[in-house]
Amino acid sequence: MTYSIEPLFQPLQLQNITLRSRIVMSPMTRCFSPGGVPGQNVADYYRRRAEAGVGLIVTEGAGIEHPSALGSGAAGEDNIPVLHGEAALAGWKKVVDDVHAAGGLIFPQLWHMGVLRTPGTGPFPDAPSSRPSGIWGPRDGVHSMPPAYAERMLPPTEPMTESEIADVIAGYARSAASARAVGFDGIAIHGAHGYLIDTFLWETTNQRTDRWGGDRVRRTRFAAAVVKAVREAIGGAVPIMFRYSQWKLQDYNARIASTPQELETLLRPLVDAGVDVFDASTRVFSAPAFEGSDMTLAGWTKRVSGKPAMAVGGVGLSRDLMSSMAEGAMPVNNLDQALARFERGEFDLLAVGRSLLADPEWALKARRGEPFKPFSPEHFGQLD
Ligand SMILES: Cc1cc2nc3c(=O)[nH]c(=O)nc-3n(C[C@H](O)[C@H](O)[C@H](O)COP(=O)(O)O)c2cc1C
Repeated sequence: MTYSIEPLFQPLQLQNITLRSRIVMSPMTRCFSPGGVPGQNVADYYRRRAEAGVGLIVTEGAGIEHPSALGSGAAGEDNIPVLHGEAALAGWKKVVDDVHAAGGLIFPQLWHMGVLRTPGTGPFPDAPSSRPSGIWGPRDGVHSMPPAYAERMLPPTEPMTESEIADVIAGYARSAASARAVGFDGIAIHGAHGYLIDTFLWETTNQRTDRWGGDRVRRTRFAAAVVKAVREAIGGAVPIMFRYSQWKLQDYNARIASTPQELETLLRPLVDAGVDVFDASTRVFSAPAFEGSDMTLAGWTKRVSGKPAMAVGGVGLSRDLMSSMAEGAMPVNNLDQALARFERGEFDLLAVGRSLLADPEWALKARRGEPFKPFSPEHFGQLD
C-alpha cells in the first residue's frame, strides 16, 4: 500500500450526525424479513458490520408505505422488509438499537420499485405497478433479465395519474417519519437503477407532457418533490442521502447525463430540495464518468453539486456485481486506487457492498491490512 488507510477512518460530520469512518455499507436487498418484518437475525447481521468499524450502514431497500412499492423477492416470497406497520417498525427499532449499541449509525433505504415491480406479486398483488408514462424500458436495452420476462414487461401500461403520484410522495414522507420515530439517524432515498424515481429522471421512461415531464430540469421534479416531502417529514437537521445512477436494470448502457453540465442540471434541483449527500451508484468505483477526464461519477457529483459524495463499485473485489453473479469474485486490495482519489478530494465516503457480505469484519481487516475473503454466489443467499 502506497497510501495510508487512516484517512478513511477519520470522522465526517453530516448535518446533526458524525460518522466515525468513511466506510459505508452499501444498500443490499437480502430477502430475510418474512411478511416485511425484520427479525433478530437482520439486527445481528447489521450489528456485526457496525461492530467492525463501518461508519454508516445503509439498509437494504425497504418498501415505502404505498401498495405498489414492492413486488416479491426473487424466490417469490414476501420477505423484503417494509417501513410501515407496527410489526415492521418494531423490528426496525431493534435493528437500530443494536447498531447504535455497537457504536454505528444507520439509514433506511426508502424504496419504491416502480416499473420494475412484477405485476401480481408483493404484499398487495392487485395493485397496479407504477410507471410514469406506462413505459418499462427500451426494447433493445442491454440487461441480464430473461428475455421472456422482458417481453412480458415491455407492453405499455397506463401512466401514473396525478393522484397516484401524490399518494406515492405522501408514502415516502410517512415512511421517513416512521423511520425517524424508531431512531434511524438519517434517510437514504433510492433514486437509481431504473426503479420509480429513476424512471422520472430517465427520458426513455418519462415521456410525460404535464408538469412531471419535459426537459432535464422538469424530469427532476418528482425526485425533488420526494426529497422535499421527506425533508418536511424529518426536519432540517437530519441528513438525507440520495442515490442515483447512469445505468438501469432495464439497460446497463443508459445515461441520464452525458456531460458534467447535464449532471449539474440534474443534481442542482435535488440539492435545493434538501439532499445533503449523494451516493453516485457505479459498478466500478474508479471508472471515469465522462470523456476527456479520469474523474469518477462521485468526483463529478461532488464538484457540480457542492455536496459530499460517495463512491461505490468493486471495492476489495476483482469483478463488478453483474459479472460476479455466476462465479463470484476474488479479493483484491484496490484500496490504493480509492485512497488516491479520496486524498485528492474526489469523494468523501466509500461504499462497500459484496465485500461486506463476504466478511462482516471487512472494514477492520482493511484497517489492519489483513487479507480479504473471496465473494461467492452463495453469499447472496446467506445472512451472517
Ligand atoms: C445482494 C445485493 C443486493 C443489492 N440490493 C440493493 C438495494 O436494495 N438497493 C440498492 O440501491 N442497491 C442494491 N445493490 C447494489 C449495491 O448497493 C452496490 O451498489 C453494488 O453491489 C456495487 O457495490 P459492490 O461492488 O461493492 O458490491 C445490491 C447489491 C447486491 C450484491
